[in-house]
Amino acid sequence: MLDTATIKKDFPIFESSPALAYLDSASTSQTPLLGLTAMDEYYTKYRANIHRGVYELSEIATDKYEQARETLARFLSAESEEIVFTSGSTLASNMLVYSLEKTLPLEKGDEIVTTIMEHHSNLIPLQELASRRGLTLKHIPLTEDVDLDYEKARELITSKTKIISVTLASNVLGTINDIKRLSELAKEAGAILIVDAAQAVGHMPISVRELGCDFLFFSGHKMCGPTGIGVLYGKKERLASLKPSLFGGSMVERVDTHTAEFASTVARFEAGTQNIAGAIGLAAAIEYLSRIGLSNIEHHVRDVTEYALSQLRSIKGVTLYCAGDPRKNAGIVSFLVEGIHPHDVAEIFSRGQVAVRSGHHCAQPLMGALGVTALVRASFYLYNSKEDVDKLVLGIKKAQSIFA
Ligand SMILES: Cc1ncc(COP(=O)(O)O)c(C=O)c1O
Repeated sequence: MLDTATIKKDFPIFESSPALAYLDSASTSQTPLLGLTAMDEYYTKYRANIHRGVYELSEIATDKYEQARETLARFLSAESEEIVFTSGSTLASNMLVYSLEKTLPLEKGDEIVTTIMEHHSNLIPLQELASRRGLTLKHIPLTEDVDLDYEKARELITSKTKIISVTLASNVLGTINDIKRLSELAKEAGAILIVDAAQAVGHMPISVRELGCDFLFFSGHKMCGPTGIGVLYGKKERLASLKPSLFGGSMVERVDTHTAEFASTVARFEAGTQNIAGAIGLAAAIEYLSRIGLSNIEHHVRDVTEYALSQLRSIKGVTLYCAGDPRKNAGIVSFLVEGIHPHDVAEIFSRGQVAVRSGHHCAQPLMGALGVTALVRASFYLYNSKEDVDKLVLGIKKAQSIFA
């Protein structure tokens, strides 16, 4: 287990709220001082726009921004020309889908395969693409133990499949999907594989090469980085032919009155002034997480999750809706307390300074498949301890006594 008392000292929020049991990192994580300082330095010491000025401050800002891209590349075992900064997962998934629509030879009747556990931000752009272009959207279902049904995936992925887009870890179930297995199927079908890694990057070691995906995206704010910054990784060969879908300054080679020629590098996908401080803050978050060690974080979260699963299983009236094997769970425990609406449970937790999320978690099709409309979700990260789980358990008991 990590020493959470020491880790908490790196996060100013726990100084302002020492009793806080923050169990909502799947929604957004907390920010370490290192990241805040890095962003503060940009604003106070070298703030300038990037890739434009020839004065010193602009050159420093450009260097720091490009160094951040290199940090991201090393972190994902990618190359820096494969890293596109975006404002987060939602922009990444939308712009990627538009770009693929412009780039791929899609025909009516072609198919997209996704899963029933997707977050709306991955699912809806696919739905929209399917409806614009007359494509068929198929969903890989779940097994009884809320794993993906890989037998069904094998049936659903065929030579008609052009795009497969799958989350690496479910934001509701915690289920970690076997991307390598899906990558084999994608290769056999000649389909493009997109991975939504919003709940996985910063929580476990990730190598895009090992996963074998064509594209992968995530948000900085779920991995100790600031809000408003994220990454779209694209395999070099794929990015080289991908057409841009956002247009404006900085993404061009040449423009005349009626046409434009776009940059040949990742700049093609970064139109307009970027979140410079955000990229620098995200790189600092990676430096911080790497110091602690991604494997250490993964194992720590697994231990806390295992403890939470065992504690919640022992409470009468609590039903779990998440991956029951902590080795296959990215640190998310979703549940219902019999007879009490999830919002009421979350509100009672809040009185004891336990922060969780309740609701449909932007995954309504999954809620439908599980036969529920809302769930309570506790999600764990490096600063959480078993004591936080004990507070959660106390909160459940309190809710049960109030509603008894
Ligand atoms: C699996 C998954 N994908 C995508 C997103 C969207 O992330 P953002 O809101 O940062 O764009 C989330 C956010 O909860 C998520 O959990």
